Amino acid sequence: MSYIEVTYPDRGAKFYRMLREQLELYTRGEPDLTAVLANASSVIAQAFPKANWVGFYLVDKNELKLGPFQGRPAVMRIGYGCGVCGSAWKRKESIVVDEVECFEGHIACDCNTHSEIVVPLWEGGEIWGVLDMDSVLPAHFTEEDRIGLEGCVGLLSRPKKNRRSLA
Ligand code: SME
Repeated sequence: MSYIEVTYPDRGAKFYRMLREQLELYTRGEPDLTAVLANASSVIAQAFPKANWVGFYLVDKNELKLGPFQGRPAVMRIGYGCGVCGSAWKRKESIVVDEVECFEGHIACDCNTHSEIVVPLWEGGEIWGVLDMDSVLPAHFTEEDRIGLEGCVGLLSRPKKNRRSLA
């Protein structure tokens, strides 16, 4: 399968419809979670050119463990309740940060980052990981992105009975 470049409109309903279609296209039918999340991080990064990091952290006992991503090398383990990612896991909700310096406990991976969004991945009433996105622009992620991305990651959270685990 060769990648066909798409041009996304400005963020809005059509943008998120296209993003969901692209995620379906490049993950569907694949039982291996590593392969699915690798393509998902690439698809999302293509849609957010102002994001300098897009990737996944996966629950591993009482920590989050680095999963597939696009961007610079990043911290590999994040404790429960630590940083933006661990806080989203603990609070059981997405977190949108306009300016990371103002988020107490933020874990800096790239000093160019200004804003961040973290969206939990749910399955069977439990969080099994988070999507994390950073941007070099302040306040790059909005409430609309929170809702849109929560819909997108729902596509990745379907029952994993046919999926091999990363752990
Ligand atoms: N900033 C995150 C750490 C991961 S990196 O951004 C890739 C946090 O505070 O949890």
